[in-house]
Amino acid sequence: MRLALVGLPGSGKSTVGRQLARRLNLPFTDSDQAIEQRIGCSIRDYFESHGESAFREIEETVIRELAGAGPGVLASGGGAVLRPANRERLRESAHVIYLRSTPEEVFRRLRHDGKRPLLQVEDPLARLRSLYEERDPLYRETAHFTIETGRPSVSTLVNMILMQLELAGVIPARP
Ligand code: S3P
Repeated sequence: MRLALVGLPGSGKSTVGRQLARRLNLPFTDSDQAIEQRIGCSIRDYFESHGESAFREIEETVIRELAGAGPGVLASGGGAVLRPANRERLRESAHVIYLRSTPEEVFRRLRHDGKRPLLQVEDPLARLRSLYEERDPLYRETAHFTIETGRPSVSTLVNMILMQLELAGVIPARP
């Protein structure tokens, strides 16, 4: 079984994905980490030196490889859904879960984050609002399940995901 998480940067894909994988006893992979291993530097540095479109090329290759790999939980980068090929690949190869957060919620979490190149701008909240406008329909199109992240703790979110997967018959019901 393969699960993938999509959503805005800071929606909790890696944190939730890691715990979800632990609960299901599956390996966890983070596409951003796989990309950083390949490029040998941080994504932020790579954006600065090579630009966003070079990054998107590598991202597509990495998503293709990871989508074709064995069972596990994959946390994808927030912009992975921008390319139709990635959306199709994720949707066909995995049960895709959209962690849906509002731009305001993400802003609260990422205020002090220096790692995400797209948010190193004067008005990150405005940037997040426009990313949300553009991407919310793409995340929905890619995902089989949507979870509103809101206030719950990580373990509550993981339980909500497990419940949806059980109800849909993706995983067996727990006793
Ligand atoms: C990006 C999100 C990042 C990373 C890159 C671009 C985006 O991943 O892939 O900085 O376009 O939203 P996270 O969603 O894990 O922050």
